Amino acid sequence: MALRQEETPTNAIAAELRKGLRSLAKAVVVITTSKGGQRFAMTATAVSELSMDPPSMLICVNKSASMHPALADGADFCINILKGEQGDIAACCSGKASGDARFSEGEWLKSSLGAPYLADAQAAFVCRQASHATYGTHSVFIGEVVEAHTSTPYDPLVYIDGRYTRVQPA
Ligand SMILES: Cc1cc2nc3c(=O)[nH]c(=O)nc-3n(C[C@H](O)[C@H](O)[C@H](O)COP(=O)(O)O)c2cc1C
Repeated sequence: MALRQEETPTNAIAAELRKGLRSLAKAVVVITTSKGGQRFAMTATAVSELSMDPPSMLICVNKSASMHPALADGADFCINILKGEQGDIAACCSGKASGDARFSEGEWLKSSLGAPYLADAQAAFVCRQASHATYGTHSVFIGEVVEAHTSTPYDPLVYIDGRYTRVQPA
């Protein structure tokens, strides 16, 4: 279906956008942060590389998320890319558990900036918060990567059409 903004109500565009985005396969990450001794973790897919000069990433976080106030207050964060076998961690950090109980799945270590990172993640990028902007329901946080942990082979957890899967050869 083709919808144009000038002739279509916003909610109809949003419905088609949501439908179309079901085909946008994304690697699943857990964003972590900490503030005042409290740790937060949240499953996310609205994450992107930004630049290599300086090395930087961006994350999009709903203003209603429990970690949002800490990030809005300038907290640094870590982006943990999950492995295909870490679906339990994704479930734990997207509502199954809350607060510090989200760290009950997996081995979490403290990074140089304080934000927890997952010891056996596919990759983990520790980011010093550099900037943020709010748009609609979400805030975009930009972080300069100060620590990167990587592992191979590449077998990330992938989210597509509302479910978790793994990469298969084309
Ligand atoms: C696969 C998946 C991807 C998600 N991506 C995001 C995201 O990019 N940004 C976001 O704010 N919430 C995202 N969410 C929703 C949060 O994980 C979920 O609402 C979480 O429970 C919010 O945190 P809170 O319970 O600490 O408030 C995603 C959830 C799932 C299952």
